[in-house]
Amino acid sequence: MNILLVGSGGREHALIWKLSQSPEVKTLYCAPGNGGISELAQSVDIGAEDVESLAEFAEAKDVDLTVVGPEGPLAKGIVDVFEKRGLRIFGPTKAAARMESSKAFAKNLLKKYHIPTGQFAVFDDPQAARSYVRQVGAPIVIKADGLCGGKGTIIAHTLSEALGAIDLLMEDRIFRQAGERIVVEELLVGEEVSIIVLTDGATAIPLLTSQDHKRLHDGDKGPNTGGMGAYAPVPVVSEALTKQIMEQIIHPTLNALVSEDILFKGVLYAGLMLTADGPKVLEFNVRFGDPEIQAILPLLKQDLVPLLDDIVEGRLAQSRAEWQAGSCVCVVLASGGYPGEFAIGKEIRGLARLKGREKVLVFHAGTKRDGDRFLSWGGRVLNVVATDEDIEGAVKRAYEAVGEIAFEGMTYRKDIAWRALKKPVSSKQ
Ligand code: AMP
Ligand code: GLY
Repeated sequence: MNILLVGSGGREHALIWKLSQSPEVKTLYCAPGNGGISELAQSVDIGAEDVESLAEFAEAKDVDLTVVGPEGPLAKGIVDVFEKRGLRIFGPTKAAARMESSKAFAKNLLKKYHIPTGQFAVFDDPQAARSYVRQVGAPIVIKADGLCGGKGTIIAHTLSEALGAIDLLMEDRIFRQAGERIVVEELLVGEEVSIIVLTDGATAIPLLTSQDHKRLHDGDKGPNTGGMGAYAPVPVVSEALTKQIMEQIIHPTLNALVSEDILFKGVLYAGLMLTADGPKVLEFNVRFGDPEIQAILPLLKQDLVPLLDDIVEGRLAQSRAEWQAGSCVCVVLASGGYPGEFAIGKEIRGLARLKGREKVLVFHAGTKRDGDRFLSWGGRVLNVVATDEDIEGAVKRAYEAVGEIAFEGMTYRKDIAWRALKKPVSSKQ
């Protein structure tokens, strides 16, 4: 079968790596792809959000299945456009993608169906938002309703920060229409985990639990980023807790969508806070987490293609996911200055030394191929991934591999998986 993957980051390189191992795959295309992806798939020079051109390409090249990486094209309705043309595609429709593209929609759904989440209120009017935050006080969380590339959440520790956040989003419109509406939310305290499930709308199969590291610096300090590293599985999420999360959050959410006449097919990613009152939803995403999936896929035993196929065909009930024992860690190498301004075009050295190294994979995020060299070409540049029997071993192996790589300005966190290392409980899921 011919497969087209849409996207260009580390998540997409990990997906291409996994898909490329499938005996079912004849030709793999990636639009637009990146330097690393171009070694495994044919790069297609079409932007991830150019939905019509992607559909034309899929038709022209007899693509049997299109898999969508990022949220942008999903929110734009790529699935609706493909399905209208009779093209098979993996992902939620535009209506279902509102679980990520409108935080107000997701929060209202949770409230209506009594699914655990923090207290909140939604505002279209800045004056009303200000009165509300004056009334409830800080700390408080202010979020843009729409997609902001992961930057739309402001944690306000004081009232003046909260009022400033309302101004930035609603008056200064730093995220344009995405901030026309805001969600003001109770600050939840606890450990954060990502629960990512595959679903055809009826059946849900959880992937291994994972944990992202959103802040730039060690010790969870510094600005928020797209994610500086991840690991799977998360020892604090026991088998019993996973069951509880499926029963109290994932299944009720999927049932709620059914009640609202929304068929959700694809990936539902719940960002959860494990609070003293139990797990609560922080947010939903409608695609694989990046960098979480880079730490999950290396432990998936079987071929991914039949799983994706079963979702598209609505027969996931007959499938299951099988996992290799052990742990996987992903360390993100970023350009100096990221998530602010950074330089690109720096030669990456050391990649050849890691080719074929046991239990180590390098997934490219922002790179460009230049003959037989690779250049940095984005904020997050590489994902160095290692598996091992346990989390300690995986962390050690990953950082040994990181030590082989260098490019000017390279920066990374040195404490990925610190929570798991601190609390090595059972890693059984
Ligand atoms: P989001 O933009 O909703 O993905 O949130 C980004 C990050 O902000 C989350 O991963 C959390 O670390 C943090 N966050 C979001 N909402 C809350 C909340 N209600 N309480 C505490 N932290 C939050
Ligand atoms: N790792 C966070 C995200 O994919 O949104």
